[in-house]
Amino acid sequence: MRVLVACEFSGVVRRAFRDRGHDAWSCDLLPAEDGSPYHIGTDVRWHFTDWDLMIAHPPCTHLAVSGARWFKDRQQEQQWALEFVQVLMDAPIDMIAIENPVSVISTRIRKPDQIIQPWMFGHPETKATCLWLKNLPPLKPTNIVDGRAGRVHHESPGPDRWKRRSRTLKGIAEAMADQWGKAIGGGEA
Ligand SMILES: C[S@@+](CC[C@H](N)C(=O)[O-])C[C@H]1O[C@@H](n2cnc3c(N)ncnc32)[C@H](O)[C@@H]1O
Repeated sequence: MRVLVACEFSGVVRRAFRDRGHDAWSCDLLPAEDGSPYHIGTDVRWHFTDWDLMIAHPPCTHLAVSGARWFKDRQQEQQWALEFVQVLMDAPIDMIAIENPVSVISTRIRKPDQIIQPWMFGHPETKATCLWLKNLPPLKPTNIVDGRAGRVHHESPGPDRWKRRSRTLKGIAEAMADQWGKAIGGGEA
């Protein structure tokens, strides 16, 4: 299966799919932090052709309700961010998952199909993560664990804090690759 992981610099989801035999590529304006050759370093909107599945992690800075106190000063930025999400949702790709925190996407575009938590996938943390799905089943929890520490509050400050906060967790990436990879086939797993 041909998989486009949009807005991913970390390669976490790309690697989970490639490990299972899929032809998966990440795409981000930033370079791949693992130096992978399976990364496209330009605007994802130029690369919507010939994929079976797209998993997209669009920026949430102007969308997440945790930043609501800034919304009134950032209305244009929020409108652009919503338009970007809508373009991703409307991409000519059969199967699409859009991932974002609890955000205005729910009220301005549509409600998510599913809300997951890291602790459902082996990470003892809370961080509600919404999924908007097209032609994909909701993810089933793979490893429900104890421990409910808030993920974000435990990140130390620094210039890379946003990267550490935004990297997709491995347990969630593996669930996507196992369950969505099998839902449509094409891998070796
Ligand atoms: C919230 S981060 C997602 C990080 C991701 N979960 C990971 O593990 O790498 C959003 C990313 O979207 C990227 N981005 C923003 N606009 C983009 C565009 N038009 N095309 C491709 N990537 C874009 C940013 O560079 C940023 O790395």
